[in-house]
Amino acid sequence: MQIFYGKAALMDYLNSIKTTNSTIGFVPTMGALHKGHQSLMFESIKENDITVVSIFVNPTQFNNPDDLEKYPRTLEEDIIKISNIHSDIIVFAPTVEDMYEGNTLSQSFDFDGLENKMEGKFRPGHFDGVGTIVKRLFEIVSPTRAYFGEKDFQQVQIIKKLVEKNQIPVKIIECPIFRETNNLAMSSRNERLTLQQREEAGIIYKILVQAKSMFTNNSAQKINSWVKKELEKNKTFTLEYFEIADEATLSTCIKKNKNKKYRAFIAVFINNIRLIDTISLN
Ligand code: PAF
Repeated sequence: MQIFYGKAALMDYLNSIKTTNSTIGFVPTMGALHKGHQSLMFESIKENDITVVSIFVNPTQFNNPDDLEKYPRTLEEDIIKISNIHSDIIVFAPTVEDMYEGNTLSQSFDFDGLENKMEGKFRPGHFDGVGTIVKRLFEIVSPTRAYFGEKDFQQVQIIKKLVEKNQIPVKIIECPIFRETNNLAMSSRNERLTLQQREEAGIIYKILVQAKSMFTNNSAQKINSWVKKELEKNKTFTLEYFEIADEATLSTCIKKNKNKKYRAFIAVFINNIRLIDTISLN
């Protein structure tokens, strides 16, 4: 397995091994790898000649300094996990200095309003940070395909917009959410939960499934109040938002339109640990 800690060395290496027909699959991550990440890598290996996985905790996408500081960093274990998946995977684990060259700031993007909804509303600047780093990583890796998990559905829509607006020649592949045995969506932040919190967090998906079953016969507003009440019963959780939105525009569903596809989105705090999940409703 090849590991690169700087962009210049990675670019030189990729140039030395790729031919004009080589396809490059890219899996950008912030490390603390779980089965969801591993599934992205399997997909990439299946569909491309070369697979690059990046591990970089991107400071500019954290609006909360405490979240950035406590974000799990497990590079050695991550490298072992990757080498167990395939010995040919190329790992890119750059430093902040290498990626930002002394200017750890994000570029400002216009994602046609997608950046102001849900995650964007509650995490100001988050999607500017994501856009900045993903664009930079795409410039370095020049992937044919890039793989992202559906748990961050809004992020995937934003990245598709980034690619469209900047005419980046990469295909964005969306992969299904991986869940723990209690159906908690896999996330690197789950590492920070105690065993009991992790067990109790199974309620998030239960609520989403119930919301889905209510969706046929109830308004979005009615489901919103039900979810709020349900989570208030359990003092471990604080609901940041629950929203039913149009999949294409991420606009809040006020009145259901049978020609549109809707999705429920939820963000919940357990202590200071923030978890998100999503489910398609129709
Ligand atoms: O989803 C993530 O882990 C991050 O937002 C990403 C896409 C790697 C950018 O830092």
